[in-house]
Amino acid sequence: MKSQGEKIAVLTSYDASFTTRIEQAGADVILVGDSLGGVIHGQATTLSVTMDDMLYHMRHVAHARQQTLLIGDMPYHSYENKQMALENAKRLMDAGADMVKLEGAGIGAGSVAESIEHIIKNNIPVCGHLGLLPQSVEELGGYKVQGREQAAAEKMLADAKHLESIGVDMIVLECIPAALGKTISNAINIATIGIGAGVECDGQVLVLYDLLGITPGKLPKFVKNFLATASAENNENLIVNAIKDFVIAVKQNQFPTAEQSY
Ligand code: KIV
Repeated sequence: MKSQGEKIAVLTSYDASFTTRIEQAGADVILVGDSLGGVIHGQATTLSVTMDDMLYHMRHVAHARQQTLLIGDMPYHSYENKQMALENAKRLMDAGADMVKLEGAGIGAGSVAESIEHIIKNNIPVCGHLGLLPQSVEELGGYKVQGREQAAAEKMLADAKHLESIGVDMIVLECIPAALGKTISNAINIATIGIGAGVECDGQVLVLYDLLGITPGKLPKFVKNFLATASAENNENLIVNAIKDFVIAVKQNQFPTAEQSY
């Protein structure tokens, strides 16, 4: 899709009913994200999400999914070394994932990139995740925009290139300046999926509950409530129409706007 210039619309799902609606609305990819720690469990961070939680939700989403690519998030502490990472990636694949996602990169022994390389060498496709890494929120000092300083931006670009070189298939870029999202997207051949990373990414992802405006509390600037403006026309199901509006906005480069970008 990247090489054909078609934008990629990605949404999170954690259960069968929403998975069916997301497919009906024509999203390209479904992510069973560890964001379920917030929207399902009501926790302030994703740190308490376990492999068992991920497997439980993955099985239900995979059961309902017909044809959409399905990514499974590797939760906190599930990839502390390459052997553990491979074992847990296999469990997510056995539960129905087509690809697994890990946060972070780095280079050399003990790095996340080493675990990613090991997973890929064992024929499991991987999605990377750079920028704001929710599993490192404590080290990052909170949910803050990443890559504003030149050194941090250069490191992120180098990490993205390294992930591409070891065989990663796509990279989520979270909460970074739109200009950096564009630079990284132009510098690599694999697709970038932005969440608060500007409209120049090759695709966009949102947490479904944020898109529907049902997540309690203050939401990040990059979120847009598509249910608020969804129309009941052509289809009586407002939720499907809200998701369709997101998919269309992504495909037509209308989301995110400057209002949802940094
Ligand atoms: O867990 C998740 O839902 C994610 C997305 C926000 C990209 O990682």
